[in-house]
Parts: sequence; structure tokens; C-alpha cells
Amino acid sequence: MYRTHTCGELRASHAGQTITLSGWVHRRRDHGGVAFFDLRDRSGLVQITINPDLSKESLDLVANVRMEWVLQIEGIVQLRPDGMQNPKMETGEVEIIAREVKVLNPAKTLPFMVSTDTDLADENTRLKYRYLDLRRERLTKNMVLRHKVIKFMRDYLDERGFIEIETPIMFKATPEGARDYLVPSRVYPGQFYALPQSPQQLKQLLMVAGMDKYFQIARCFRDEDLRGDRQPEFTQLDLEMSFVHRDDVLALVEGLFTEMLPAVAPHKKLFSSPWPKFSYHEVLERFGSDKPDLRFGMELMDVSDVFAKSEFKVFQSTLDAGGVIKCLVAPKSADMSRKELDGLTEVAKTFGAKGMPYMAVTAEGMKGGIAKFVTEEEFAALKSKTGAGVGDLIIFATDARAVVNKTLGGLRLWFRDKLDLADKNMMAFAWVVDFPFFAYNEENKAWESEHHPFTMPKMEDLDKFDTDPGAVASDAYDMVCNGYETASGSIRIHRRDIQMKMFQMLGLTDEEIQAKFGHMLEAFEYGAPPHGGMAPGIDRLVMLLADEPNIREVIAFPKNQAGRDVMADAPSEVEPKQLKELHIKFN
Ligand code: AMO
Repeated sequence: MYRTHTCGELRASHAGQTITLSGWVHRRRDHGGVAFFDLRDRSGLVQITINPDLSKESLDLVANVRMEWVLQIEGIVQLRPDGMQNPKMETGEVEIIAREVKVLNPAKTLPFMVSTDTDLADENTRLKYRYLDLRRERLTKNMVLRHKVIKFMRDYLDERGFIEIETPIMFKATPEGARDYLVPSRVYPGQFYALPQSPQQLKQLLMVAGMDKYFQIARCFRDEDLRGDRQPEFTQLDLEMSFVHRDDVLALVEGLFTEMLPAVAPHKKLFSSPWPKFSYHEVLERFGSDKPDLRFGMELMDVSDVFAKSEFKVFQSTLDAGGVIKCLVAPKSADMSRKELDGLTEVAKTFGAKGMPYMAVTAEGMKGGIAKFVTEEEFAALKSKTGAGVGDLIIFATDARAVVNKTLGGLRLWFRDKLDLADKNMMAFAWVVDFPFFAYNEENKAWESEHHPFTMPKMEDLDKFDTDPGAVASDAYDMVCNGYETASGSIRIHRRDIQMKMFQMLGLTDEEIQAKFGHMLEAFEYGAPPHGGMAPGIDRLVMLLADEPNIREVIAFPKNQAGRDVMADAPSEVEPKQLKELHIKFN
């Protein structure tokens, strides 16, 4: 038997017992001829004391033991003497007096320390030796948390009549707005499977199949630009329900995360219950983002009316051109230096703004920036509308509405980070609903689906399809949290005629529609039930629950920021024989 107990479970109540442990040497100390090890396994650490009265053989062995060696230890659990307890360790009341030490496997010197986070190696080194990185307490905790989150999801949905069904990974292109990963077929030269960007089509077909309530811990694959919250393969809690309206889906998912929070992350506070619900237009106007961070104020305010008669040319010309003037009030920022403000102007420009008008509110009145162009009446109206007071900095954006919202939305987050305005332990879940159905792609001069092409338009907007596509609203919804989009979903099209119309609007020819989605259209002719669903992104949610800055920290073996697996070195070249079998030649 390798062990009778795990390291982290030992408490005062075990005192006197003879036990066997197996684990890694986390730390080693030598004091006055006595060696101490902290032995570690996934459950935690416990102190092992090697008294000099052990057999010479054992002592010789112990003398060589280094960090991260794998040992088996037999010993007696003993209460630590008074004053020697370690309240920082969960097992700090006890120590194990070793009777026998066995080396199960030695270890080379590691490329980085496992026992501390202080030397946190550069990320590629961590990823190259991910199996060592995962030994760190922080990552081990993240893996356990992820497990708890997924287990909670499974239990919660099982209790509510959902069944878990696996769907194929080798499938056909399922558009979610990214490029596909393709798998060449050996048997059918020139033909490819596509890895699913999500199981969207398959879960809808499961509804046609009468499965009623489905879920899956589903892997999704998307070839898109990577960011901190994006990986080329990631995991969704994919779910779908028959005979439901939007609010049925929202109630289910809201209940899931509201109940999950105290169970998996009791130190996290829920911002509001029930969760707030905003329309897409409202969040853009108030927070400048369709994934607002609600943990702090600093809302965007429209002050176009205050400056309706402004003499300031920039304001005047914007209003004449049909644009808007909006502002935000940054607390305690009136004394930002010129240099900082110039830097911030550059930030504003990255969001499309041409400049960043600002002014400070001081005890003597308005100061700096555009103050000289603002009349006392305008200043008074501005203060009363925005609530700005002494010490505040007012930042304006003046342009077309979309640019203004995007700019101020971005600057709002910049101040959040600079002034530390958001409570790290708050989870501000909210719903965003009533998304537009189409988005116009200026580059391609074409309409695209804002969500995905299987989303149901609001029935009352059906007749605007041909006349005013931009005004069609959809039955789509997003769940947001702390500035991230954490889930999205919709009520789906279940009628062939509407689905056909949707594909045609996206510019697909009848042949293309048939070749790509013929199976969906046909299925809709065999009694497809009304249905809808959604898909929370598990990586992003665990990242937020674990206070991690990116999703790589909560994925066991992620790709690096350049999309490579640096541990196994993938992607990599393959044997010429394999290419030949797959009928592939390089161009
Ligand atoms: P969507 O494409 O919005 O919707 O994805 C749903 C959620 O998945 C997460 N997510 C990602 N997480 C990590 N890396 C990525 N590259 C990535 N892309 C998306 C986000 C996102 O909110 N089939 C629809 C869902 C539905 O309609 O039911 C879908 O996939 O948290």
C-alpha cells in the first residue's frame, strides 16, 4: 500500500495513529541535526520530522533527498509541541515523526520552483513544463475549482431533467464567426471535416429529435485571433431546451450561477439578485459596452443639450453633423498631469476618437483642457447634470454615437483599473437582451448575423427584413459579468421559411444554402419544436471565480498566446507518408 492517508487531511484528531503517506518533497529544512520535510500531494502539505535516531540506512538516504523527490513515509502522527503550531498550514497542529523513509523516485533540479510563486517563470517556460506548473498550489486550486464548477453544473441540470449528450468533434462547418479548423479525409480525397465552433446545429437537431432538455460540457474550436479570454479550443456549458421562451432559459441559467456561487466560491459576493437586465441599446448608452462592468459607476452621460449653443468649434461641428457629446466624470483625477492626459488621449484614439476634450473641476472653478471654451452657464448646467464636483476630471467624447460610446466605454475601464474602482470579490452578473438581428459589415458591404444565423428574429420585426434590416431585433441574449461576455444564447428559428430567408439575407445562394445547411432545413420540415438555449463559457467563468487574469491559468494544457502547445511542440510537421495518404501537397 502506497498510502493510508493524504497529506492535507491530517489533523489533531489523528494524533497517535501510525500512517503511511506518499508525495513530493515541497521544502526541506535542517535544524540542529534534525531534518524536516514538507510533504505534498494534491490535498496539501504536512510536516515530516526525521529524528536522528532513525536507522543509519534511512538517515543516509534522507541526506540526499532534494526538492520534488517522490517519497513514501511511514510514521506516527504527533501533536506539535506548544508554540510550534503553524496556523498558516491546515495541518499545522501536527507533524509526522518518520519511522521509515523510501524514495519512490528522485527528481532533477526543476526549471522553476514549485513551492513559491515569487519566481513565477516566464509563461512559455511554465507551459513547456506545465506538469510542474500544475503542481503549484495556485494552479492545483484552479483545477479543483474548475472540477467543482463543472460538477455543480452537471448536478444542477440533472436535477432539472436535463440529459448530457455527446456530439461529434469531426463534423461540418458550424459558423460562429471564426475560421474553421479542418480535418482532411483520407478516404475521400479533397474532402474535409470541420471541427465545430460550437455544437449549435447538433443541439438544435437534438431538439428536433425530441431530447427536450440537453446539455454538454462541450469543447469548441475556433481559429481566431487570441486574447486573454480566448483560446483556439475552449469549453462551453452548452445547453438547449424545447418549448421555452427567452425568460425560461434566463431563469434556469440565473438560478444555476446564483446557487453555484456560495457552493464553489463562498468569498465571492453576488452584485444583485435578481440579476439586472438591460437592453443592448441601454448598456451601450450607459456603459459604452455590450459587456458592461457594473461593479462601479462612472456612467456615460449625454450632454449634447448642455452644449447645444456652444461656441466651441469641435462641439458645434459634431452637433451640426448629427453626432453627440457625451462625458464621464473621473473621481479624484483633477490633478492628472499633462503627460498622463496626453497618454490617455492616445488611448482614446485607439477606440476611434479624434481627440479627448477634458477639463478639471477645482475649488476655483473649471480648469485646463477645453475650460476656456465653456461658459459659466454651461459649466453650471454640466455640474448639475453630471454631479461633477471639486477634484473630478470631466472627459468628453464628441463624434458619431457609436464612436463616442466605444471611446468612453474604453476610458471607463481604463479608470477602473487605474483607480481600482471595482471590488475584486464581487460578481456582477447581468443580462443583456434585445440585440439587433443583423450587423452591417462595412468592409464586406454585407449584412451579417449579430449572433449566429440560427437565432430567431422578433416576430413583430419579420416584415422589416427587406425594408430595414438594421432595425430588426433578435431574440438573443448575453450573460455578462465584470466586463466579460460570459455566455450567449437565443431562441432559435424552427421554421424552414424563416431560416431560408435568414441565409438569403446573409448573401448565400440557394446552392450554397443546400450544400452547407440542407440537413438543418430538412430537419425543420419534420416537426421541429420551438426551442432555445445558451452557452456559458466555462473557462471565462472559472477565470473570474479564481481571480485569474486570463483563461490560460484555468486550463490544464492551454495553447500559448501565439496558439502553440509549447510542451508537446504542436502544431508540428508530420511524416511525408501521412501527407501522401491524406492527398496533401504543399503549395
Ligand atoms: P458564443 O460564440 O457567443 O455562442 O460563445 C458562447 C460563450 O463561449 C465563450 N467563448 C470563448 N471562450 C474562450 N475562448 C474563445 N475563443 C471563446 N469564444 C467564445 C464566451 C461566450 O459567451 N452556439 C452559441 C451559443 C448559443 O447560442 O447557445 C455560441 O457558441 O463565454
